Amino acid sequence: MNYVLPELETLEPVEGEKATLTLPDGRQVDLPVLRGTHGPKVVDVQKLYRDTGYFTYDPGFMSTASCDSSITYIDGERGILLHRGYPIEELAAKASFIEVCYLLLYGKLPDAGELAAFDDSITHHTLVHEKLKTFLNGYRRDAHPMAVMVGTVGALSAFYHEETDVTDPEERDLATHRIIAKMATICAMASNYAIGQPFVYPQNDLDYAANFLHMCFSVPTERMQVTLVQARAMNRFLVLHADHEQNASAATVRIAGSSQANPYACVAAGIASLWGPAHGGANEAVLKMLEEIGTRDNILMFLKRAKDKTDPFRLMGFGHRVYKNYDPRARVLRDSCHEVLDELDKRDEPVFALAMELERIALEDDYFVSRKLFPNVDFYSGIMLRAMGFPTEMFPPLFALGRTVGWISQWHEMIQSPNQRIDRPRQRYTGAPIRNYVPLEQR
Ligand code: CMC
Repeated sequence: MNYVLPELETLEPVEGEKATLTLPDGRQVDLPVLRGTHGPKVVDVQKLYRDTGYFTYDPGFMSTASCDSSITYIDGERGILLHRGYPIEELAAKASFIEVCYLLLYGKLPDAGELAAFDDSITHHTLVHEKLKTFLNGYRRDAHPMAVMVGTVGALSAFYHEETDVTDPEERDLATHRIIAKMATICAMASNYAIGQPFVYPQNDLDYAANFLHMCFSVPTERMQVTLVQARAMNRFLVLHADHEQNASAATVRIAGSSQANPYACVAAGIASLWGPAHGGANEAVLKMLEEIGTRDNILMFLKRAKDKTDPFRLMGFGHRVYKNYDPRARVLRDSCHEVLDELDKRDEPVFALAMELERIALEDDYFVSRKLFPNVDFYSGIMLRAMGFPTEMFPPLFALGRTVGWISQWHEMIQSPNQRIDRPRQRYTGAPIRNYVPLEQR
């Protein structure tokens, strides 16, 4: 059955559309107004400084589009997420992660031959250099896997620097296939390292999602039998995390890459940006919060704390910078989460029962309802990944695994853009006025 597309206004280009800005000295300046396919029109301020001496001011990029992009579209008010025009709900239901990778990278759904060739290439790049193991073994036994990922993915730049000319499309493509393939292996290595298990080599007869589960949960003495529900849940998790337009980590990869830096190092920068609890660390924070809440009896007390502006506690896995409606990814992952809990017979385990109760109470609470604070994708991913047996600190690396294709697609788009130049934000200087150096003895 075909998914019914929500209605979205498609904008037509309008020649010569302008916005007029009046400056404090009375000068008026005409600024071009640009239109995308969908979404708000944008006022082009690129020449504002050159023409007037004024910068624009927008900390946190609340109203600023930093680039043109044709990869992903989000309508946060209506809870719509499209990749290359295709709704996330349809992709999550029907596409394999590898198909979505192809779509994000090359802008179209692959035909059978293209998909087979792409899949074959990714499959045959999953092995990592044996020396990388030596590098990884240098980490402390209890290192956070995200620290391991930042360092190890960054280290790939040492293994592949000479063959990575970012101005050469073929070398860019090779680097892309390597990153997508090796990310799964490195992520599984970080998972094994965290629990003191030996590294498990990839298996070429498994698809991307199943192979990843195999590398995480098999041991040399026993191969994991990946079930259909687990493989489907992992595939969905990866599809749902594949891209999310200009968020903190994607913008980081673009900024790092804008200096034409090595792409593996740029992806490592993206992983670093993703780590924080306001971004990719939220799924881990959800589980930590559930552990802190402990029992159902404490839910109301923690909800009270979440509403108290003097208390730093926030309900992790609720709210989103862009979605002021339901996160469409959350709706899909909620189903997978329930499928996994049922298959593994974990629905009644205390931490999962607590999560479901918290979800129910928060969705009926006026504070959360009036602010449109719904469970986001991290709420369900945290619960699902825990049920599948991943250690809590592995949740952000799993997010990074899914998001790698988005980062690298954004990187490709940035490098190929005719407007590409080094990113260099401006600032409003609020420091000390100009003054002379004071010798030490006079201070
Ligand atoms: N718990 C309690 N109150 C909240 C929460 C929350 N999780 N999120 C937002 N609020 C309140 C906020 O205090 C504000 O209240 P008021 O209007 O009274 O001042 C109101 O809701 C509006 O929120 P906001 O400050 O405009 O939201 P934001 O866009 O600045 O922040 C957020 C978005 C995701 C950082 C925030 O909702 C949050 O910290 N959530 C918890 C962490 C989390 O789950 N993050 C994962 C996001 S999804 C992953 C991804 O896509 O990267």
